[in-house]
Amino acid sequence: MSLVKTFNFQLIPDPTGLLSVYETGKGVDFEIKRVYCLSRLEANSTRGYHAHKALRQVAVCLSGSCRFVLDDGKVRESVVLDSPGVGLQIESFIWREMHDFSDNCVLMVLASELYSESDYIRSYEDFLKEVGNAS
Ligand code: TYD
Repeated sequence: MSLVKTFNFQLIPDPTGLLSVYETGKGVDFEIKRVYCLSRLEANSTRGYHAHKALRQVAVCLSGSCRFVLDDGKVRESVVLDSPGVGLQIESFIWREMHDFSDNCVLMVLASELYSESDYIRSYEDFLKEVGNAS
């Protein structure tokens, strides 16, 4: 089964512009408790490099494009996000990295929990231990 799970959000096009709707129950199967965005990203920068214990997330590229790498400790998969109409589901205990930000990239993340540093696993070695795949 693929680690990359995407789904479509409601898009309401209009001659004046595009309206995109992000709502619990419409693709997002958790109550959205927090929304955060990455913007003004430096060329060639990378982000992420962590997993979460409980947090579930959906990432949406509102503008431009970027590439996500998802890793469950066994398999590593990559997907390019480039549409405000596409959500990438990121489950708990999935290592994620973000690469290849376009210069106008705005990445929005819908989150199932409030911010908690203790929910992060920031070392790949610790992550492999947590998912039972350390060598
Ligand atoms: P982090 O989640 O590591 O960012 P990314 O995955 O984009 O690389 O967060 C970067 C910093 O911001 C870190 O010090 C934690 C802080 N932060 C908050 O205070 N609140 C939040 O909701 C988020 C997402 C991060």
